[in-house]
Amino acid sequence: MKGYDVAIVGATGLVGQEFIKVLEQRNFPMNSIRLLASDRSAGRKLRVNGEEVEVKETSIDSFENVEVALFSAGAEISNYFAPIAARAGAVVVDNSAAFRMDTQVPLVVPEVNPADIKEHKGIIANPNCSTIQMVVALYPLHQVNPIKRVIVDTYQSVSGTGSAALEELSEQARLVLEGRSVVPHVYPHQIAFNLLPEIDVFLDNAYTKEEWKCVEETRKIMHANEIAISATCVRVPIFVSHSEAIHIEFSQPMSPDTARRTLAEAPGIKVLDDPNISLYPQPWSVAGSDEVFVGRIRQDASHSCGLVMWVVADNLRKGAALNAVQIAETMVDRGWI
Ligand SMILES: NC(=O)c1ccc[n+]([C@@H]2O[C@H](COP(=O)([O-])OP(=O)(O)OC[C@H]3O[C@@H](n4cnc5c(N)ncnc54)[C@H](OP(=O)(O)O)[C@@H]3O)[C@@H](O)[C@H]2O)c1
Repeated sequence: MKGYDVAIVGATGLVGQEFIKVLEQRNFPMNSIRLLASDRSAGRKLRVNGEEVEVKETSIDSFENVEVALFSAGAEISNYFAPIAARAGAVVVDNSAAFRMDTQVPLVVPEVNPADIKEHKGIIANPNCSTIQMVVALYPLHQVNPIKRVIVDTYQSVSGTGSAALEELSEQARLVLEGRSVVPHVYPHQIAFNLLPEIDVFLDNAYTKEEWKCVEETRKIMHANEIAISATCVRVPIFVSHSEAIHIEFSQPMSPDTARRTLAEAPGIKVLDDPNISLYPQPWSVAGSDEVFVGRIRQDASHSCGLVMWVVADNLRKGAALNAVQIAETMVDRGWI
């Protein structure tokens, strides 16, 4: 099998490190790997497939002969370097929000809209972490019974904010337990032993940008502008995995058993749902897994066509690195690269 020349921009970050793991674990056909970050990390060495690879500063010359460029260094870096990488001949899979709603850029979750990949003009966008796990769970249900409305409340871990937020939670938890005061740096308020209903900036419509991403990105990925969606996104003091309580209104009634069966047969999903033995997905046990886990599937007592479910996934894997690598694998498998 042909091997590809791959670059990771943001290789030293949480998602970048997960990229390396996922590429190794899934034996992505690599001919070479280029690890890129800022000048702060230039010269650091990271192990890839047992070999030490030196991290280089990202520059306009970084993408010569690169075929697949995986970006996870934030929107500003993507805005500047992704078009440069694409012009140099690479297919970019970008984890930031820079291009997601660009009509010229496919926004892809391989379990939902793999065919959109073909439309790319050099850049493919990886959706927001909370959107990815939601659409993996919604789409198979939508195919058997069109969804009219979704209300989602998220419980998002601090790793979604990057490595500085992991340190902030650890440090604040220690200080609080020692009875000392806390000065927040990454978040606007203390995150340890607290909840923050504010992820990304507030918009004019009083939603946060993260909440609005759930609305717009879900519709774009599922090609379903008609679905009404409302989200409340909450940052919670755990390290890895995002959880979501999703309330769905279908066109017709759907029994919890039908939903369970449909989800159990769908790609990328594991159903963990037995209230008798307290079996349901938990962020702690889901961390490190590839699937989107669904449980607590029940009739919505407030609506005859409604169902409620609890959806959990590892935000660094399916919510970021894994989904992006699956996009690259789809291109390889289908001969689109
Ligand atoms: N964390 C998640 O769950 C998640 C999910 C989906 C999408 N994303 C997106 O993925 C991106 C990275 O997230 P993260 O959690 O990995 O953040 P992170 O842990 O803070 O890592 C940021 C990475 O960006 C690099 N970087 C910063 N400035 C740079 C520059 N001027 N040039 C080149 N590289 C630069 C950093 O390199 P240095 O080490 O040199 O500073 C580091 O490798 C963000 O766009 C985020 O929105 C994250």
